[in-house]
Amino acid sequence: MPEARKKESQEARGWIEAADSVAVLTGAGISAESGVPTFRGTGGLWRSFRPEELATPEAFRRDPKLLWEWYNWRRELISKALPNPGHKALVELESRKPRFTLITQNVDGLHDLAGSKNVLKLHGDIWQIRCTKCGKSWTDRRVPLPDLPAHCDCGALARPDIVWFGEPLPAGIWSRAADAVEDARLFLVVGTSAVVYPAADLIPLALARKVKVIEINPDETPFSAEVDCALAGPAGEILPRLVAS
Ligand code: APR
Repeated sequence: MPEARKKESQEARGWIEAADSVAVLTGAGISAESGVPTFRGTGGLWRSFRPEELATPEAFRRDPKLLWEWYNWRRELISKALPNPGHKALVELESRKPRFTLITQNVDGLHDLAGSKNVLKLHGDIWQIRCTKCGKSWTDRRVPLPDLPAHCDCGALARPDIVWFGEPLPAGIWSRAADAVEDARLFLVVGTSAVVYPAADLIPLALARKVKVIEINPDETPFSAEVDCALAGPAGEILPRLVAS
């Protein structure tokens, strides 16, 4: 590792060690090394589509079967994935900190599978299904799902319980995420392109509060130049090194 990088990671390790309150924001990049494709960036899942056009209530209304087929494909892919050393390092960090909140944009459930406890899922959960009429929500881990599009017991059309573009976040979750960031001494931003809002707003919020911010991402993001430390590389390699005591 070049000398400057080594010094930077040592400094970051010191901040992690010293912080009694930690918040983390993760995005698709933390699951990339588990074999779950990201949305943007190299090899991104939606390279040939625009996520802002496909993952919308309008697209679902237009063609519910098409959207369900796409989610069925993603569910199948995710069902084969296991947590990687990046997910596990966050479990280890949580066990050492009196206050720790993991805020994730991911719907893949890999943080739960790794053993993380205090997880705020900003964008929902791919294993949850919700009725478009009566609002009932339930877990269904079947892969593949039969009879698409899925329906509720009440007979109405059901949808993935996921936040699509143009939809609000689940009730109360934003204030819990913002409170966790404001309370933190250290904010880790891992594997997110930081272009989807409101999630990305947590970064300027932390910076304005003078919370130390460390970004981990092989690529630059709109915030790389503003954070206290941007570590370029894969989360599955960098996080275990940073968290090692
Ligand atoms: N380690 C860390 N970061 C990685 C890795 C890795 N091994 N591999 C890729 N990345 C980075 C990419 O460089 C990219 O910046 O992860 C980021 C993934 O960005 P996106 O695909 O845009 O994912 P995310 O930021 O989570 O997207 C936000 O957009 O489509 C919606 O709802 C969806 O929650 C998602 C939201």
